[in-house]
Amino acid sequence: MGFLHRFLSLSLTVSSLAAAQSCKLQFDGRLPTDLVAADLDVANDFFSNQFVIGAGLTVSQAVRILPAGAGSLVRSPNPVLISDASIFNGQTAFRRAELLPASNNGADASTQGVKTLHFSVLKDAVRPLNLSHEYQLAFLESADFSTNQFVLKTGTILGQATKDPDTLQVFGNVNDGKVLFSTAFEAGVFHNFALKLDFDKLTTQVFFSRDSDDLVSVTDVLQNDVSGRGQFHFGVLKKPVGGVGDITKNGFQEAEIGEGISFGGIFQEDSADGCISLKP
Ligand SMILES: *[C@@H]1O[C@H](CO)[C@@H](O)[C@H](O)[C@H]1NC(C)=O
Repeated sequence: MGFLHRFLSLSLTVSSLAAAQSCKLQFDGRLPTDLVAADLDVANDFFSNQFVIGAGLTVSQAVRILPAGAGSLVRSPNPVLISDASIFNGQTAFRRAELLPASNNGADASTQGVKTLHFSVLKDAVRPLNLSHEYQLAFLESADFSTNQFVLKTGTILGQATKDPDTLQVFGNVNDGKVLFSTAFEAGVFHNFALKLDFDKLTTQVFFSRDSDDLVSVTDVLQNDVSGRGQFHFGVLKKPVGGVGDITKNGFQEAEIGEGISFGGIFQEDSADGCISLKP
C-alpha cells in the first residue's frame, strides 16, 4: 500500500459567504475558497496550527484543500489527512487528527453563555472507517482534560454492545454516558448537526438534518453537564480495540490504515438571544 493511502482523512467545508448567516458568530471554520493547506501551518483565523496532529507533522501534512465544487453553495469536502505517524502526545494506541478553532484556547467565550455549535459530517467513500473501532468525530474536551462534555461517536463503542456500528451517536458528558441522539450514518450524504449548549443552565439541545434540509430540533432541552470550559475538536480520533487500562497507550491498531471522514460547516454562533441558524 502506497504512502498516500496510509492516511486517515477528514474534510473541511469551503463555504459561500452568501450562505445565510444572521446570528453573531463566536468562531468560523468555514474556509475561504482561496485558502491552501499551507495557510493552516501558520497562525490563521480558522484553526490551530499546532493541535491535534501527530508529533513531527505539520497541519498541511494532515490537510488537503481541494477546489470548491462547482455549484456547491454551502460546503465542498476537502480531505484532511493523517498517517500512521499521527501519534499525538505519546498516545501510541490512538490515531488522531483533529482541528481546533483558532480562537478556542480553552478559556474563551465559546464555552460561556449560550452558544450553538454547527458542523456536518460526510463519509469518505474512498477511505471508509473500520467500524470494529470506536471513533470520536467531534467533541468538547474540558479545560482540565478530565472529561468530554459531548462527543459525536461512530463505530463500535468501547464497553457497550453497539447494535449497529454504522451509526452516528451524540453522547452527552461521558461521565454520564447518555446518548442524546443517534441516527444512521448514510453514505453520500452530509449529516448536519447543531448543538445548542447552555453553559449557565448546563443543558444541550440537538438539531439535525441531512444534506441541504433545514435543521430541526431532534431532542428536548436536555440536562447535560457542559461545565468545565475547554476546546472543541473536529476530526478523527480512532481508539484501539482490546486495550486494557490506559487505552491511549494500550490496545491494538492495525498498520497502514486508509480511512477518512469529511467535515463541513464548522462554526459557532451566539444564541444568548435565541438566535440559531437552521440553514445548513
Ligand atoms: C478492522 O480493525 C480490526 C481491528 O483493528 C482489524 O483486525 C481488521 O483487519 C480491520 N478490518 C479492515 C477491513 O481493515
